[in-house]
Amino acid sequence: MKKQVKVTPWEVSGDINYEKLIKEFGVSQIKELPEVFNKNILFRRKIIFAHRDIQRILEAIKNKKPFVMMTGLMPTGKFHIGHMMLAQQMVFYQKLGAKLYIAVADIEAYNARGQSLEESKKIAEDYILGYATLGLDLKKADIYFQSSRSKNSEKANAYYRLQNLLARHATFNEFRAVYGEITPGKMLSALLQASDMLHPQLPEFEKNLPVIVPVGIDQDAHLRLARDISRRIKSPSFIQLSSTYHLFAPGLNGGKMSASDPNSYIAPTDSSKEVEKKINKYAFSGGQSTIEEHRKKGGNPDIDVSFQYLKMIFEEDDKKLNQMEDDYKSGKLLTGDLKKYAIQKINLFLKEYQKKRESVKKDVDKFLKDLS
Ligand code: TRP
Repeated sequence: MKKQVKVTPWEVSGDINYEKLIKEFGVSQIKELPEVFNKNILFRRKIIFAHRDIQRILEAIKNKKPFVMMTGLMPTGKFHIGHMMLAQQMVFYQKLGAKLYIAVADIEAYNARGQSLEESKKIAEDYILGYATLGLDLKKADIYFQSSRSKNSEKANAYYRLQNLLARHATFNEFRAVYGEITPGKMLSALLQASDMLHPQLPEFEKNLPVIVPVGIDQDAHLRLARDISRRIKSPSFIQLSSTYHLFAPGLNGGKMSASDPNSYIAPTDSSKEVEKKINKYAFSGGQSTIEEHRKKGGNPDIDVSFQYLKMIFEEDDKKLNQMEDDYKSGKLLTGDLKKYAIQKINLFLKEYQKKRESVKKDVDKFLKDLS
């Protein structure tokens, strides 16, 4: 029997069919994008594969009008390469001139995962250090914890007020339809996330301007809800939210990357020995079981985790990637050699990353101290 597929903010399980999700959720496939986007492999290779109302953001960029990129993180488990894709989008939009809002979802982690605020804080610091390492200018981003929006009381009030006002405009049936299983805590988290996404438009923040929310497709339920209820509230008024959706990076075994299972992911702080072991021992292979068979039938790069990591994160060079894809399919490239190349590329990246991480650590520590 096939396992049931579930893609909600609280649970992702089963074999994900992205084409089907696009139809089911009513999001649009990403087609043509301006050249600046195509310089980024996530856009160029359609790792960011779907959107809602991205046009509004493209227009703002074209007309050199201000816009906000707003996203958030649930700090559970270690910062791993799956999280890097979102970090890279933050850096991308910051360089494009967007104002950045980044929510640490410690209230959501408390309500939906039973994790204490203290634990969330500790874990979030590791994520924020990761963002800085990948090139995010923390000082030019508004990073906040959901449990503590701002030291400025007018701003803080506006953010929590919005969450409360939005409540009236949602119905219980809607919550059930959008989320399936729902509890009071999850309901409040959904409304708080709606406020996360909408509050940059309040007069206490940036005032009405377009906001793009880059997320994994599991977050679309939150967007559907926020978009629907923001249309119903008359004052304050909102420009409809835009969003983009990226694919999940597969876990090493081909299933889900789970922050609670270190053998399901690679962390950018792993040692080169660990990377070697994880790829060789755990990375799911799209190759055949014997060399003879592989030479004859070829491998499947679409399900090969080492290839997918190269495609999503570590191989910038399209020509090289395409060549490997062709050679793997034809059987010319063996799994062992593909893994060897992936290990080498990943370790090259991690060496740089770890050096950079050490060099930004002091500044980030200071930033985090000032934040709290
Ligand atoms: N729910 C998101 C997650 O689980 C975190 C989050 C909180 C978020 N607020 C947000 C994401 C606003 C995008 C926009 O990762």
